[in-house]
Amino acid sequence: MTETIAEQQATAAGSGAAATEQFRARVSAGDVHTDTARVDMLATELLTAAHDIVRRHKVTYDEYNALKAWMIQVGEDGEWPLFLDVWVEHAVEEVAGEHREGSKGSIEGPYYVADAPRLPAEATLPMRDDEKGTPLLFQGQVRSVDGTPLAGATVEIWHADDEGFYSQFAPGLPEWNLRGTVVADDQGNFRINTVEPAPYQIPTDGSCGKLIAAAGWHAWRPAHLHLKVSAPGHQLITTQLYFKGGTHVADDIATAVKPELILDPTPVEGGAGREVTYDFVLDRV
Ligand code: DHB
Ligand code: FE
Repeated sequence: MTETIAEQQATAAGSGAAATEQFRARVSAGDVHTDTARVDMLATELLTAAHDIVRRHKVTYDEYNALKAWMIQVGEDGEWPLFLDVWVEHAVEEVAGEHREGSKGSIEGPYYVADAPRLPAEATLPMRDDEKGTPLLFQGQVRSVDGTPLAGATVEIWHADDEGFYSQFAPGLPEWNLRGTVVADDQGNFRINTVEPAPYQIPTDGSCGKLIAAAGWHAWRPAHLHLKVSAPGHQLITTQLYFKGGTHVADDIATAVKPELILDPTPVEGGAGREVTYDFVLDRV
């Protein structure tokens, strides 16, 4: 008998290693060119902040060694993408998006995979025949800041399943499950059929989980859709959308919820599941 996903639990080492591999395939340290003066400033300020914390809180050798052991383990578990995207990326995103006039962005997180199957403007995301979860019709229009509909915009969408697992990062899921690149029609419209994702729990069996437990935090992100929306002549936007009233919308471990990003789906009249309309407004390049 084949194992169900619940039986074949996603492990931190498994999803961490996959996230590390995915990221490495796209970016390597040598690709990024920051000039010496800026590296000097950023590295010095980061280290000075660490020294200040040590002095202010009288950090002991035991605590210093615990940090050292923990950082070594984060690397061994492949959990640096998870750690950085949960606890640091939101600030980087805030700075990157501060001059944007169009739709709000949010963090990318560790589970994006480029080149998901291309789908027409009205599409159903790849899913299993017995995919669990409330059916969701997610529809809208992509426009420029001046209101012009953007023909042929693309809406890349990826999200967790009804158990909180992402394809290509948790075991046992079809390769492109709940992932797609939807090409909007000549009016920038799209209609995407999927299922509502479940809240996502940071894997608790690895180093990030150990930090969460040691600090008495919780490990949850609210249910969310991930999106990258783009169109010729416009800035690509990476964002996430959440569900009104969902658990952890108000206390996301990754601090990535913004009020503008909360959807309020309504029951489909005479049909199954829920539907919601959300339009994307893109800034020009
Ligand atoms: C993480 C996972 C996510 O699904 C997400 O959207 C952001 C961060 C993480 O495990 O780091
Ligand atoms: Fe996510």
